[in-house]
This record gives sequence, structure tokens and C-alpha cells, in this order.
Amino acid sequence: MANDALFTPYEHGGLTLPNRIVLSPLTRNRAVGTVPNALMAEYYAQRASAAILIAEGTQPAAVGQGYLDTPGLHTDEQQAGWAKVVEAIEAAGPARFVIQVMHTGRVAHPSYTGGEQPVAPSVVQAPGEVFTPEGQRPYVEPRALGTDELETVKAQYVEAARRAVDAGAYGIELHAANGYLLHQFLSENTNQRTDGYGTDVAGRIRFVVEVVDAVVAEIGAGRTAIRLSPNHQVNGIEETDPKSTYAALYAELARHDLLYVHLLDSSKFAGYDVIAQARELYPGTLIANAGFSQEWDAAGAAERIEDGRIDLVAFGRPFLANPDLPRRLRENAPLNEPDRETFYGGGAEGYTDYPTLDAVTTG
Ligand SMILES: Cc1cc2nc3c(=O)[nH]c(=O)nc-3n(C[C@H](O)[C@H](O)[C@H](O)COP(=O)(O)O)c2cc1C
Repeated sequence: MANDALFTPYEHGGLTLPNRIVLSPLTRNRAVGTVPNALMAEYYAQRASAAILIAEGTQPAAVGQGYLDTPGLHTDEQQAGWAKVVEAIEAAGPARFVIQVMHTGRVAHPSYTGGEQPVAPSVVQAPGEVFTPEGQRPYVEPRALGTDELETVKAQYVEAARRAVDAGAYGIELHAANGYLLHQFLSENTNQRTDGYGTDVAGRIRFVVEVVDAVVAEIGAGRTAIRLSPNHQVNGIEETDPKSTYAALYAELARHDLLYVHLLDSSKFAGYDVIAQARELYPGTLIANAGFSQEWDAAGAAERIEDGRIDLVAFGRPFLANPDLPRRLRENAPLNEPDRETFYGGGAEGYTDYPTLDAVTTG
């Protein structure tokens, strides 16, 4: 069958996964008050037939929150909420649970940061507007992080990693894609620093590398992952020479055998095959996601796994709408269509009520 390669086990460095299917991180804005809850536990547990579930972007500090009702991982209450989510997933099995740690940097608004001015590598305002409880508002000018403050931000990532593991999660994925804080350090147009954390390739990758090293020192390389999207032009990112930036970054990441490197296929924006570059320069586990422009589908993923271009594939919207996506792909069954209206916020509708194949076929 065309999708067979998606159902071969994967083994690497002591980690064995039953299939190659991963839930891509999806912000769903249902963590009322930033604390993971029973509805979220149900949503993730419904999808536990995957190899890995990557949780939605989760802020490591209040100032790193960019959207309404996204979960955090910096208080005991949030950690306890995540522990309940992990419990529900483990009861459903076999998926490993990885929490995406997302500090949104300049892509934030004082409505979400407890009134604090958002922080960024440099004073460069994000273009466009953000939804706030008061309506659509332009992004605000961020404050540039001082050199001495970088240690504090790094410590926030480390604390989130510690809390994730203490909550029972398998590990964390550092969000260095899609224009959020770590991507803002990598990109020339958002990083204008002259203190050794900008200026050239070595400077721009430095903070990301330091965060990776610090998290690895805390929870181990086998529990630490990173998501990248070279020159993915969302949230105002414009990288002029992504090939050089990411080549240098992979050389540093290759010092560790990370849980995985996760690429969003931004090849169209980068102007070269970003997945081939990661495969060539980073020797460990590679997850790829087709990206918003949907460069390839499940059959394309199976083909890429079959010929060794990637190890695992992450699905976002198809998995959002099909809690039993692995089974449907295995049986070549029809898929439910995702409903955009319920992507961001709300309750169970469009979240935990997408029918399984059994529910569809038995009516
Ligand atoms: C509702 C929604 C929320 C998303 N939230 C996140 C997020 O929190 N972190 C992230 O890295 N990507 C996020 N993404 C991007 C997805 O992980 C994925 O890369 C994208 O949807 C393209 O893959 P797909 O075609 O399989 O959906 C989000 C996408 C959608 C549709």
C-alpha cells in the first residue's frame, strides 16, 4: 500500500517508536487562564495512536505569551495541568508527549503579557495586527533584551524543560520557527544586535545554540528537540541568507544527538531544499512537516521516509480533524475536513468532537 512506510517502527538511540506519524504543534487557545485542563487532556489522548504528540506552543514565561489562552509552563499549577494531560495520554498510548516551548518575543501584546512590553532581540516591531480581547490591535514596539537578560531568558527555557519532564512529558521542542523569539534571533531583519548575539551568522545563531546547550544540560539531548523553518515568511521574518545561517546552526546542533530536529518545509521561501540541507548536515532524527503551502501529502511523506530523506512526518490540520489519522492513512479511508472557524479558541466543538472512522461508519 502507498502509505506503508508510515507504519514501519523507528529506532534511534534507545528510542523505539511504533510508527512514523507525529502530531504537529497546533495552538488551539483552549487553556483558559493558561492552565492545561481536562478538555485538552481528552483532545491529546484521542490522538495517542501517533508515535509522538507535539503539544501546542507553550510559553516559558508570562512575557512570552502571544495569544489568548495559550498554556504556560512556568507555574506549579500549569505543571500540574500538564501532568494530567500526560496521564490521559499514557492511559490511551502509545504516543510519546513532547511540549513545544514557544516564547513569542515581539509577536505579542501587553494584553497577554500581563501588561509588560514584549521583548525581542532588537527594537523592530512586528508587522500587522493581533487579536486581543479588546479587538484587533497592531503589534507594539518590543523592548530589546539586554545582554545580561539573556541569561534570564535562557533560564526560563531551562525551567520549562525541567517542569515538562517533571510533569511526565518525554521532552520538549524548542520553537525556533515561524517568527517567534528564537527565530527572531536567527533572522537578519529582526536581529540588529551588536553585542555578540547578532551582526553575522555566528552571532545570530549564538543565542539559539546557547539555549539548546542549556536545555540539553538540564534534561539530556535525547529529550531535547528543536523546530526550524528557514526563511518562513510569517510574522515578518525575512532572512537574506538562510542557507548559511542554518548550515552553521546544524554544525552546532550536530554536537548533540537530539530527540529530533523538526523542519517545516519552507523550501519555497528559502529558495533551496531545506529538508535536504538538514539531512545532509544534521546526522540525527529528522521530522518534516509539509508546511502551510502543503508541498506534499501523506503519500509524499511515505515516499520521503521510504527513500530516507526524513525519518518521521508531522501532520497538523489533517490530525486536528481526524483523531484516528494513523488508522485512516493505513486504511486509505476518507478524512474529515478541518473547520477553520474553530481552530483558535472555543470549547469542545471543532476540538474533541471530530468523529473517528468507527463513529462515521457506524453512524
Ligand atoms: C490552528 C493552527 C495552529 C498552529 N499552531 C502552531 C504552534 O503552536 N506551533 C507551531 O510550531 N506551529 C503551529 N502551526 C503550524 C503547524 O504545526 C503546521 O506546520 C501547519 O499547520 C502545516 O502543516 P499541515 O498542512 O499538516 O497542517 C499551527 C497551525 C494551525 C493550522
